[in-house]
Amino acid sequence: MLGIRPPLIIASGPGGYGEYLNLINSKCLGAYTLKTVTYKPRSLTEAPRMAFGSFYLINHIGLENPGVDKFLESLRLGRYDGIFKRTKVILSLGGDDLKEYLKITEKVKPHVDRFVAVEYNFSCPNVTKGGFLLTAKADDWARLLGRIRELLPKTFLLAKLGIEGILIERAAGYVNEAGWEGVTLVNTVRGLHMNPDGRILLGGLSGPILKPISLRAVYEVRKRYQNLYIVAAGGVYSASDAREFIAVGANAISVGSALFKDPNVIEEIGKELGGVVK
Ligand SMILES: Cc1cc2nc3c(=O)[nH]c(=O)nc-3n(C[C@H](O)[C@H](O)[C@H](O)COP(=O)(O)O)c2cc1C
Repeated sequence: MLGIRPPLIIASGPGGYGEYLNLINSKCLGAYTLKTVTYKPRSLTEAPRMAFGSFYLINHIGLENPGVDKFLESLRLGRYDGIFKRTKVILSLGGDDLKEYLKITEKVKPHVDRFVAVEYNFSCPNVTKGGFLLTAKADDWARLLGRIRELLPKTFLLAKLGIEGILIERAAGYVNEAGWEGVTLVNTVRGLHMNPDGRILLGGLSGPILKPISLRAVYEVRKRYQNLYIVAAGGVYSASDAREFIAVGANAISVGSALFKDPNVIEEIGKELGGVVK
């Protein structure tokens, strides 16, 4: 079990590298996932990078991050110490291909004990390489899961999955077979937003529109794999959303897009989950 109380997590991405800690009551939070760090640095995508629809947010931020070397340098220099003092931290990792996932694992290995878990992002839809495309070659991906397990035998490993690529139930099966502790369900789904001026934004959909998809993913994976720790992600905007995810088998709830609407939602959900710690 992931020792977090309450079982409420800031999802990777919307919270950046701890920026929201100043806007939320961290006592109501179990852990904070940092934005995905990739093997190579990734630069800013072109504007518009985000748009809000009635029931969704769409973004094409595309895993913008400093890359693992700069990230580790900042970690060593203590730039993230403020986050560690206030809450438990989950590291999120990504890469362009299977080799980069191994190389980034080797680089972070000496530092993983600072994190309560390491989440591998196998599902970003906003990239041309890596992301959910990795799971398409399921055998190679399964071997990668096994190698990461060998490299980090004692770390709480979470695989972040999406509904694109192979069936999520099947993907969770590979994660289970590789002896990983859990899965985070789900990442954003590719979508298109049409601006009133006709400009098109292609990106990852998040927010309330994802909730029924994510609920079903949690339900299906829990039905098959009792041992896997499941972090739910997708459209959690209220305490009652969180209750629904717990009811279908989630062990922990993560909140992403709702932070943009009202960071106070963390306190509401955290209080709700105070008594549901698993
Ligand atoms: C602006 C933004 C950036 C994101 N960046 C990442 C990321 O770096 N890594 C990742 O695993 N997921 C990322 N996500 C996906 C979220 O972690 C989450 O899985 C998804 O948004 C669904 O949850 P939500 O509806 O609560 O936002 C991002 C989402 C948004 C909205």
